[in-house]
Amino acid sequence: MIISPSILSADFANLERDIKLVQNAGADWLHVDVMDGHFVPNITIGVPVVASIKKITDLPLDVHLMIENPEKYIEAFVKAGADIITFHFEAVSDVAAIIKQIKSFGIKAGMSIKPNTPAEVVFPYLKDLDLLLVMTVEPGFGGQKFMNDCAEKIPVIKEKAHENLIIQVDGGINADTARICTSYGANSLVAGNYIYKSADIKAAINSLR
Ligand code: DX5
Ligand code: ZN
Repeated sequence: MIISPSILSADFANLERDIKLVQNAGADWLHVDVMDGHFVPNITIGVPVVASIKKITDLPLDVHLMIENPEKYIEAFVKAGADIITFHFEAVSDVAAIIKQIKSFGIKAGMSIKPNTPAEVVFPYLKDLDLLLVMTVEPGFGGQKFMNDCAEKIPVIKEKAHENLIIQVDGGINADTARICTSYGANSLVAGNYIYKSADIKAAINSLR
């Protein structure tokens, strides 16, 4: 189980401190939510912040692009230190091309689907993807409620997936919803609020495994 704490719930004025907190508590990856105010109604962080984070942690950087025209920014995020780049199916016109573009840099390629996007649309691309991210909230903000019907897409995708595909879930993950996702076949969990608002971060991360 790959646990990827989302720094969207960290204190951006104390980002190094908050990254070390999850790193020392056993996080596997670091989830970086990039939002552009167009694809989603919120604006967060971009390339320079990823480059700065890269200097202070050895955790793989799991970059979740919630932006329009993600193909324009792949190279910049790779140079900044992204280890996994996940784009949104809904944001691109040529899915095969962007997967190829990401993989040409020797990093992992991920694709995400929003709550209203059916599981079936990903089938043609599964063989080329390293990661498939199922959103269990409407992307844009941390701290929202987990949508169970979105998680029901996991077994549908799992059935068609190659054995090395990482199936990641993002949105409203806590110890209870993590159990649901794991039972459906997810092997990576993103969590923001649940981890960062917890008094015992190590216990919170362990409870997701
Ligand atoms: C939402 C982001 C998530 C967010 C999750 O658009 O993609 O990664 O940080 O936050 P929680 O775990 O609080 O729902
Ligand atoms: Zn995310």
